[in-house]
Amino acid sequence: MSTAIVNHIQVGLKGSVQIPGDKSISHRAVMFGAIANGTTTVEGFLPGEDCLSTIACFRKLGVTIEQEGEKVTIEGKGWDGLKEPTDILDVGNSGTTTRLMLGILATRPFHSVVIGDDSIAKRPMARVTEPLRSMGSTIDGRDHGNFTPLSIRGGATKGIAFQSKVASAQVKSAILLAGLQSEGTTSVSEPALSRDHTERMLEAYGVEVKRDGLTVSVEGGQTLKAQHIVVPGDISSAAFFLVAGAIVPNSEITLTNVGMNPTRSGIIDVLQQMGANLSIQNERMAGGEPIADITISTSDLTGIEIGGDLIPRLIDEIPVIAVLASQAKGRTIIRDAEELKVKETNRIDTVVSELKKLGANIEATEDGMVIEGRSSLNGATVSSYGDHRIGMAMAIAGLIASEEVKIERSEAIAVSYPSFFNHIETLQSK
Ligand code: S3P
Repeated sequence: MSTAIVNHIQVGLKGSVQIPGDKSISHRAVMFGAIANGTTTVEGFLPGEDCLSTIACFRKLGVTIEQEGEKVTIEGKGWDGLKEPTDILDVGNSGTTTRLMLGILATRPFHSVVIGDDSIAKRPMARVTEPLRSMGSTIDGRDHGNFTPLSIRGGATKGIAFQSKVASAQVKSAILLAGLQSEGTTSVSEPALSRDHTERMLEAYGVEVKRDGLTVSVEGGQTLKAQHIVVPGDISSAAFFLVAGAIVPNSEITLTNVGMNPTRSGIIDVLQQMGANLSIQNERMAGGEPIADITISTSDLTGIEIGGDLIPRLIDEIPVIAVLASQAKGRTIIRDAEELKVKETNRIDTVVSELKKLGANIEATEDGMVIEGRSSLNGATVSSYGDHRIGMAMAIAGLIASEEVKIERSEAIAVSYPSFFNHIETLQSK
């Protein structure tokens, strides 16, 4: 386990960084390539630990995958190319690998066992195992299939019309993937729109996907055609530097290659509503997803209320939004965000406890948190608790803290952003 030390920045952040590949899209590019017919090539892949777990699992399922940095080649042999694994499938820290892979395994006529790390072992899986069982798949595991280790024997499945209680792209994707090889129609309705990368990418792989408001449906019996996939930069990674640019005095930074999918861009709405100096340039399309470059500079910020349909559009950004809010005048209220409790850590607890150690005025609520700004942050020893986004949020807070911030278990950051500290250095040395 490693401890990172972050010091107060004296001169401001300047310059530009290219944001690494989107984690959600990188996972999907590999998984869909593995079930497609033909050779899929991926550029801009995120070589973070989570996406490497996906590659490792699909190799164990018999798929030949070559990966060198941001380039990946997948030799897909269609749905039937997947073979019964002789070893357990280890998803590491990755919820997306677990849930989407379960959707794929649900229709495969063989047995697999899925395990992950200590954090995965605490994350609820009934939200996918129950609907997949109701389609006809046999799944068991700890707590009747709610927690890993899970064992799954796929088989002949039937389409369902599933009403999800949570706005979760992982749930939606798992059921749609199973639906592609089930009898009849499968539909998923969600209470608010979650990220739609699966819908977009399945269409790119030649699948017919119907969307109607908050309902997505697919017909069974569909195959995928190999593709060349260009992965845009991850707005969830860009978020750390968007916040840093806004709160570190004398800063002006440009982030290039940022994915701007409207189901993910809630952080931009929040920054704009808080009064950040932000401009969006070079809006373009890459691999069926909108991307742009963003310039942000030190800003006078005001607290706002964040809730409702905005939450799924920024759920992964809430740890760093809490840091942002600690530097905004007045009160910021985050509500309707109970899903934070079932992320890599209980992010209501971890954000509040670690930011308190740095002197922020922040309190947990049942479904979010309340932050009073502005606070001068102090130095302290904090922990990521093994959660990459908590580690990075603490590092951004450390850039403005009066004394050194020590971040224990900082190695977790490699889950989604292996070059994070290099990028801080690049922006500091200009
Ligand atoms: C993801 C969906 C979100 C998000 C996670 C990645 C995905 O989770 O928090 O980091 O790639 O589909 P939920 O689907 O559980 O909301």
